[in-house]
Amino acid sequence: MGEAVRILRVLAQHPGLELEWDEWDLGADRFLETGVTISDREFRSLADDYDAILLGALGDPRVPDNEHARDILLGLRFRLDLYVNYRPCLVRHPRHSPLRSPAGAAMDVRFFRENTEGSYAGVGGALRQGTPDEVAIQEDVNTYRGVERIIRAAFHYARSRGRRRVTMVDKANAMAAPGALWRRVFEEVAAEHAGIEARAMYVDAMAMDLVRRPDHHQVVVTSNLFGDILSDLGAVLAGGLGMAASANVHPGQHALFEPVHGSAPDIAGRGTANPMAAILCVALLLEHLGWTWAARSVEAAVEAALEDEVGTPDLGGEAGTVDVGRWIADHLTDDQALWERQTDE
Ligand code: IPM
Ligand code: MN
Repeated sequence: MGEAVRILRVLAQHPGLELEWDEWDLGADRFLETGVTISDREFRSLADDYDAILLGALGDPRVPDNEHARDILLGLRFRLDLYVNYRPCLVRHPRHSPLRSPAGAAMDVRFFRENTEGSYAGVGGALRQGTPDEVAIQEDVNTYRGVERIIRAAFHYARSRGRRRVTMVDKANAMAAPGALWRRVFEEVAAEHAGIEARAMYVDAMAMDLVRRPDHHQVVVTSNLFGDILSDLGAVLAGGLGMAASANVHPGQHALFEPVHGSAPDIAGRGTANPMAAILCVALLLEHLGWTWAARSVEAAVEAALEDEVGTPDLGGEAGTVDVGRWIADHLTDDQALWERQTDE
């Protein structure tokens, strides 16, 4: 996150961007000291006082059941009703994809993961825990409203970005009730979007297809759990979790940007974590705030680093976290077109 903030600091000097931010510590140290993950006052402030939230990776092995990370991340997704989890998975440099697309075209899939219900809704519980008669239940909650709004978001995105294919992913052959709802709504919304090829697929087939023809799918819309799993697969096919950024959005209301990866405790303190996912979150944030031109410059700076083989060990490089952040910041500082640009004209 330090490197993402370094990029924000560079961009804050741009006369066409009005960026101001506060830095908050919601880290595990604070939680272990105080027992507070995020207070109600903090939550209200995040909801009321800011246009966007940039959240660092969470997770600390000293908090074994992950309560802290879950409470903050899932808490914000649910309480702010951030129903769109947008996860772009695109190959930014062919060197980093473990796959070679047969057609030579690069993977560029935009996942629309439902972010407020499904198996994450917390409906369920356990009985007779610790005995041989233990029962554990977690319901898969799918509402018409919830399904419709994420499917609409995916089609809206496809239409506004000139994408011609939207794929809905479910498991209707085994989970009939949610499958029927998702398929019916998908067909309804697809019928309003002539010219966009709409197809439903089972999640197992999609997992296979993403590997078999990574360049085929364009916009994928799916449930919370399937989206969680497929977006990790998509991320690794596109170059690794170190480069995967995501947006959690309730359009017109709230937005939170976070890297898809966790906190990588296995390499903590070594200074080798890839900052690109966090930096690409800054790009998503800028785009959300309406500064698409600045977002493109950030993406281009990351791509320039990849082109120059400036990368952390996960990308086969030898640079440290700070080296990569500084390289990208310097590239932005030297980007003439960025500094001459004032608007999206
Ligand atoms: C993600 C993460 C979270 C999720 C975890 C940390 C609860 O894996 O953002 O993809 O499952 O949504
Ligand atoms: Mn995940």
